[in-house]
Amino acid sequence: MKKVITYGTFDLFHQGHYNIIKRAKAYGDYLIVGVTSESYDIERGKLSVHDSLLTRIENVKKTGLVDEIIVEEYLGQKTRDIIQYDIDTLVVGSDWIGKFDHLKQYCNVVYLERTKNISSTQIREKSSAIRNFGVITDNADDLGVVSETKYVSGIHIERVFSEDIDVAEEFCNKYELNSYGNCFEKFCQDLSIVYIKCDLEKRYNYIKQCIEKGVHVICEFPFSLDNEKCQELNKLAREKNVILMENIVMVYLRAFSQFLWIADSNEVGKVLSIDIGMSNDFFEYEKTLEDMSVLAITAVTKLLGTEAKYISKNLIPGNEDGEEYCSMFFRYEDAVARIEIGKNIDLHNHLTVIGTKGRIVLEDDWWNTGYFKVIKNGCKKVDRRSFNFEGTGFRYLIQELLIMLRDERYECNRLTDDEACSILKVLNKLED
Ligand code: CTP
Repeated sequence: MKKVITYGTFDLFHQGHYNIIKRAKAYGDYLIVGVTSESYDIERGKLSVHDSLLTRIENVKKTGLVDEIIVEEYLGQKTRDIIQYDIDTLVVGSDWIGKFDHLKQYCNVVYLERTKNISSTQIREKSSAIRNFGVITDNADDLGVVSETKYVSGIHIERVFSEDIDVAEEFCNKYELNSYGNCFEKFCQDLSIVYIKCDLEKRYNYIKQCIEKGVHVICEFPFSLDNEKCQELNKLAREKNVILMENIVMVYLRAFSQFLWIADSNEVGKVLSIDIGMSNDFFEYEKTLEDMSVLAITAVTKLLGTEAKYISKNLIPGNEDGEEYCSMFFRYEDAVARIEIGKNIDLHNHLTVIGTKGRIVLEDDWWNTGYFKVIKNGCKKVDRRSFNFEGTGFRYLIQELLIMLRDERYECNRLTDDEACSILKVLNKLED
């Protein structure tokens, strides 16, 4: 008996899917179809899948052509499946040409021409209302935002606004947007979401105007250093049923959520201390000490809460070479945190949580992480957790925003107003 296997997400089951399953079946006597799990799709950056795993399995079953259905849960599973199920031929579409040649040592690998003019992405885009997205910027750098939004169905980056028309034009041409301008009224027309990336002193006004026009906002943090102004914006957003989101990607990453869960759940005992080191080595785009401080303080706030009893800071200002160093110390009721941040200084980048029964360690670009270690006292084995994600992570933030809009949920639980307010207070203290 000749066994054949093929794989896919099979979202919004369409003719292209049916065709490949039918053609795969013709390569043998027994056909196995691997359907991707939700979590595997999220890991590989496929964020807009519409149908549940059960629905997708059901649709594959309905073809009446499949002898067995399995779930594909991780990268590299194909090798195991081919050996385990004693597969003769792997069939995949021509969009994967060359990608599975390394499996030829185990079975035949056949790439079949895709059915033309149809894909799940196309169907998703036709069926869901597309939300127009605009960017407000001071410079012609997108920080990866334009390319990231391409991975999320239901969003289209329409135009860019800058007070400097030359900057707007350069941005528009560089990222191939539809239009640009320096007239704010015109810019906002028919936009659903705006991403604001500009100097701190301009953010408050832009955010306020967008909210008043009913436009959802993603903005660099903080919105303003004035706590009252931030509260006012949050209140206004609630009144207008508008989402106001801080662009702190870290809190939308799965590894970070899992890391917080483990720290909170007593796996390494009671948390005694947090130790953070951070330098600009790992950032693709220019970062100031303040930008880096936001990430470190967010991590401390998420881990130890909003009620620090005492906070101190030492800043060693930069010289002509732009070196800067800052250390901060936080004392809570029964724990402490230490942060060391360096610009153009070679620091050990890490976030370590020290508990009574062990440690959790995130290394390198820990604010953008897909990996951490849990080391329990007296246990020789290091427990390694990894949750891959694709790109800069911004697409996961956008995806969360779209889910909030779909569910008509206007408040974000990844970073609460209280937490944002507390982070801002710490930043202000550090400004003194
Ligand atoms: N496929 C095909 N012809 C199409 C669409 C898909 O032959 N028009 C094949 C793919 O090459 C793959 C399998 O069907 O081997 C499952 O593809 P999947 O990624 O689930 O479908 P797509 O429509 O490509 O989904 P998306 O647009 O989300 O990438």
